[in-house]
Amino acid sequence: MESTSFKRFRRLRANPSIRELVQEHFLLAQNLVLPIFVHEERESIDIPHLPGHRRLSISDAISHASDCLLLGIKSFALFPVVPPGSKDASGSQALNSDSIIYRALRAFRSGLPEALLIADVALDPYTTHGHDGIWDSRMRDVDNDATVAVLEKMAILLAQAGAHFVAPSDMMDGRIRAIRAALDHSGYSHTGIISYAAKYASCYYGPFRQAIGAGIAGVTTIDKRTYQLNPANSREAVLECIQDAAEGADILMIKPAGHYLDVIKEVKSRTMLPVAAYQVSGEYSAICAAAEKGWLDKNQAALESLISIRRAGADFIFTYFAKDVAILLRA
Ligand code: PBG
Repeated sequence: MESTSFKRFRRLRANPSIRELVQEHFLLAQNLVLPIFVHEERESIDIPHLPGHRRLSISDAISHASDCLLLGIKSFALFPVVPPGSKDASGSQALNSDSIIYRALRAFRSGLPEALLIADVALDPYTTHGHDGIWDSRMRDVDNDATVAVLEKMAILLAQAGAHFVAPSDMMDGRIRAIRAALDHSGYSHTGIISYAAKYASCYYGPFRQAIGAGIAGVTTIDKRTYQLNPANSREAVLECIQDAAEGADILMIKPAGHYLDVIKEVKSRTMLPVAAYQVSGEYSAICAAAEKGWLDKNQAALESLISIRRAGADFIFTYFAKDVAILLRA
């Protein structure tokens, strides 16, 4: 007889078969989104702070994505690297449909029709100051409504170039409603919106800012606290998500992921919409750096970090580990 104050939990951990039988959460390649950086050059170049990732030419990007499709990754988030000479204070190249992101989307749609394409909506790749919107020098802040007016146009151009989903990552107020209306009025009611609904003002975006060459000198410490969320708050994140759902978002995203598992869980319990999480560049690079020093096992850390994000409630995950993990999952 077993004592009532003592349970042998280890019976369910005794061997791989029983451990697998009672496993609650799973990681599948189909639930991963791979971020891809495209630039104007013909040669692809390494991104030092994001090991294993490169600024790709359009044709290299397509062959990279095509390898990933064979591994079961079907979705790609495309990000443009804009040459410093094409940037200005208002990010005007964001509306130039000949610029790199639009060319890349068109090339992906014709060269790789099976790929699901997600395009960021924000001005930071295009502005000299690296902010996500139009800078008002008198207010010394990003101008919300002037920015939203540009983002609406940008979303239409991205849909026109072939994005299946636009993903506003700017954190301006009212942009989901405005973008939904703009898409609907322009014949893109089938184009979806993945809202970066709860995006925190995080230092973990550093390597990404280096990857896209944010600002003019690749500055990684841009202060975005007047629009991105305070890491000390969670109720505010839930409010943002409820609001974006009401404004017409199809999918809500929490970002970063690993340090915000409580927020993922809370949002998941309060919405019936799919919930995504973005394991951001710094989360990836921190694991890679520790692994390089021999302090962590990179594969195990990648798998553990991602299953934790699934366990918290994310339906799918944007991650720089997507390809590595898809390979591990096949083995
Ligand atoms: C820009 C944007 C950022 C990321 C995605 N879109 C950076 C930022 O807000 O400064 C970060 C992604 C990452 O770190 O991997 N709007």
